[in-house]
Amino acid sequence: EEKQKTFPPGFLWGGAVAANQAEGAWQADGKGDSVADHITAGTKTSPRRFTEQIRPEENYPSHEAIDFYHRYEEDIALFAEMGFKVFRISIAWTRIFPKGDEISPNRAGIAYYRKVFETCKKYGIEPLVTLSHYEMPYYLCEHYGGWTNRQTIAFFLRYCETVFREYQDLVHYWLTFNEMNTLVSRFGTLLAGGILPEDGEDLFGTKRLGSPETAAEKSRRFTALHHQFLAGAQAVKIAHEINPENKVGCMLSAAGVHPYTCSPEDVLEAQAQMERSNWLCGDVCVRGAYPYFAERFFRENGVQIRKETGDDEILKNGKVDFLSFSYYSSRCATADPKVIQTAGNMMLGVPNPYLEASEWGWIIDPKGLRYLLNELYGRYQIPLMVVENGLGAVDRVTEDRQIHDDYRIAYLSEHIRQMWEAVNDGVELLGYTPWGCIDLISASTGEMKKRYGFIYVDKDDEGKGTLERKKKDSFAWYRECIRTNGASV
Ligand code: BG6
Repeated sequence: EEKQKTFPPGFLWGGAVAANQAEGAWQADGKGDSVADHITAGTKTSPRRFTEQIRPEENYPSHEAIDFYHRYEEDIALFAEMGFKVFRISIAWTRIFPKGDEISPNRAGIAYYRKVFETCKKYGIEPLVTLSHYEMPYYLCEHYGGWTNRQTIAFFLRYCETVFREYQDLVHYWLTFNEMNTLVSRFGTLLAGGILPEDGEDLFGTKRLGSPETAAEKSRRFTALHHQFLAGAQAVKIAHEINPENKVGCMLSAAGVHPYTCSPEDVLEAQAQMERSNWLCGDVCVRGAYPYFAERFFRENGVQIRKETGDDEILKNGKVDFLSFSYYSSRCATADPKVIQTAGNMMLGVPNPYLEASEWGWIIDPKGLRYLLNELYGRYQIPLMVVENGLGAVDRVTEDRQIHDDYRIAYLSEHIRQMWEAVNDGVELLGYTPWGCIDLISASTGEMKKRYGFIYVDKDDEGKGTLERKKKDSFAWYRECIRTNGASV
């Protein structure tokens, strides 16, 4: 029997960016500063740093980024040329509520995103909007303790309600928190939780991981996550009330965890890591309740979350319509303390001896994507969407000003083929938005040279360059992929 070669009709092909990594214009039109605006550039080996004050001598890549704020028309036109059906973008909360606790929104911010969404509409591109992508108002971090404070829920919901109302004619797909499960690990403390370091500790570096985390710190982190669960659930409810056609998803950083060996200890360790890093958040958002294993996990780690009466009801009444996730990599889990673990995409893990890694050490595992799609769909049985995937790599511009990024085409092709296998297994997959469809600032290192795009942006790590846009080889390749609904891959 001839296998079906294409994706389902109406499959949402597109690309993804986030405001703080693309827009720049960090103080334009009344925007307040976000937590991302306080994080300097770093490299693979020297971590990005958080600074309380903005220091003139430092390079904060979010301040200019790729200037999408002023160039969105040109950029969206290029996405349309590739045939995008969907464009994932985030709204910078600080453009709408600059400090976060205001009563009325900043009209200039509202007007800006209206223009962006109208431009999408002009090309028949459906916006998929992340409400919070590592860019909470800095004022809320400083004065309220970020997501540790229960009041933050109300501020967030005011922001959500405002944008749901303002854009009800333009936006129907929403995501609550980007990679909400990064708060399950310490990496998410600052960027996702808005919890400022007490001693200016570094962000992704060894210092945070070098010292053991206290039970109090863990409790703060999981309380922040609990508040995000409540906020997300209520946002789902409000979105449905405002427009029953709104589809709201949660978003996870999903990585398959394979046992490093077939020893039962490693198998159990891999299962425990899958539970903590994927199922904990997925279960709360999709099933509307903490999973069965949460209690013991919290107890054994000294975690006490500040839960109030009525919280269970809130979670139950705000289940998401679909589940989305980022996928770059997988990792191996070991129970053997002698095996050395290294940092990959946000989590520690053991590199897989059967697989190769990217230039940044992220393990490349296309089959891991099929594995996860099947695991996620089997567990939740709601539509899924891959809203980030891609290869961060150094691109070289040749003398005749071409960018031959065949390595990127190879990476994406293999992942698309595995997605196709999963779809044929019966997984309900709504769409695919590869990350950084136009080059942008790296979240983990703050570099420009870690590029993901189909479109090259002329800018280097020092912030120099013309910001000119240029099509890479992958541009035509992706256009053909979309035109043939995946058959050309
Ligand atoms: C995800 C984030 O973790 O991975 C994005 O949602 C991020 O914001 C992406 O950019 C890729 O990571 P990096 O560090 O290569 O930019």
